[in-house]
Amino acid sequence: MLRAVLIGAGSIGGSVAVMITKAGYPLDVVAHGEEKAALYRDPGFRLTGAFGDQQVSLRAFPSVEALEGTYDVCFIATKYQQMPSVARAMLPHLKEDSLVVSLQNGIVLDLLSEVVGENRTVGVMIGYGATLLEPNLVEVTAGDEFRIGMPKGHTSPRLKELAEMMSAVLPTKVDDDIVARLFSKVVFNSCINSVCGISGLDLGKALHHRPVRMAMLDIMREGDAVAQAMGLDVPRFNVLPKNSFIAAHHSRFFNAFMGRFLEVGMGIRSGKVHPSTLQSLEKGKKTEIDIMNGYLSAKGAEYGVSTPVNDWMTRTIREIENGSRPISKKNIRELGKAFY
Ligand SMILES: NC(=O)c1ccc[n+]([C@@H]2O[C@H](COP(=O)([O-])OP(=O)(O)OC[C@H]3O[C@@H](n4cnc5c(N)ncnc54)[C@H](OP(=O)(O)O)[C@@H]3O)[C@@H](O)[C@H]2O)c1
Repeated sequence: MLRAVLIGAGSIGGSVAVMITKAGYPLDVVAHGEEKAALYRDPGFRLTGAFGDQQVSLRAFPSVEALEGTYDVCFIATKYQQMPSVARAMLPHLKEDSLVVSLQNGIVLDLLSEVVGENRTVGVMIGYGATLLEPNLVEVTAGDEFRIGMPKGHTSPRLKELAEMMSAVLPTKVDDDIVARLFSKVVFNSCINSVCGISGLDLGKALHHRPVRMAMLDIMREGDAVAQAMGLDVPRFNVLPKNSFIAAHHSRFFNAFMGRFLEVGMGIRSGKVHPSTLQSLEKGKKTEIDIMNGYLSAKGAEYGVSTPVNDWMTRTIREIENGSRPISKKNIRELGKAFY
């Protein structure tokens, strides 16, 4: 049986750790300090929501330094900003054929490969959402699947075993093109995080505003242009049609119709979503905008593709982050004036 460790038992890490532990896998968990480690051991880590009500005692350690021996699998579930330093700290606990699994949203596989090597890097497209309600309580919202894969055509005989282990959480498939799969979620996240982040509105309410709906369509169009330049064939994600379909149509009628489709489709399925970017901004914390709209902007610049709406969103979220602009519905008006 694979010996596994998970670092960062927050919303995603905590929910993954509970389900894998409950399925009988010997999973070590690295908490952020002894206080949290003690809590995860006793009374344990709790889940509510789509994975049912669960309470499991985790084999928790206060830091990477407290771990002993080597692991076959290492899940990293911190925010992306902490991921490289956590991966570096794990190096003494990795073998030549260990797999290091990035649970971050976004395409951060290069960042992880630089530390652990491409032959040990695994990306995951996470098909569910989770929110930390208390330090040891996570609410899980409806989920469908995991897709896992290695960058640049790498593979490992351990991927199949890893998929079996992860199926304790959600059905898990090995994907031939994990970057394209992750890209589809980057565009989805860029759509919902930016508009809610600038306005302070839950997704359903944000979608009532025309500039928000039009911006989402343009984020998808810009995403499609960047993906084409990168040579990616991006699949559809969630309720969104393929980005290439949106990019192929520009008429006012199409925009109005598709805008209403987003308002109703996303409103019904995800209207109450209060995305992580907005949650971080409300807490005065750094967001992950650099691996969402910021990623599309950066790749656009690299490949000579213009991405004005993603640039505007990235800049505006950064201004809110650094305190020079408030979260406000007025930002939607400004978006409308700038583009629509
Ligand atoms: N939440 C979702 O629905 C969702 C869905 C898909 C993907 N993701 C991705 O999952 C990643 C994590 O997001 P999240 O929402 O789970 O964030 P989160 O709730 O903030 O969890 C991150 C956890 O990592 C811990 N941590 C940070 N540095 C650590 C270290 N050096 N050692 C041990 N633990 C450490 C944090 O502890 P402290 O709080 O004490 O710093 C926190 O418990 C993000 O990259 C996100 O994009 C999230």
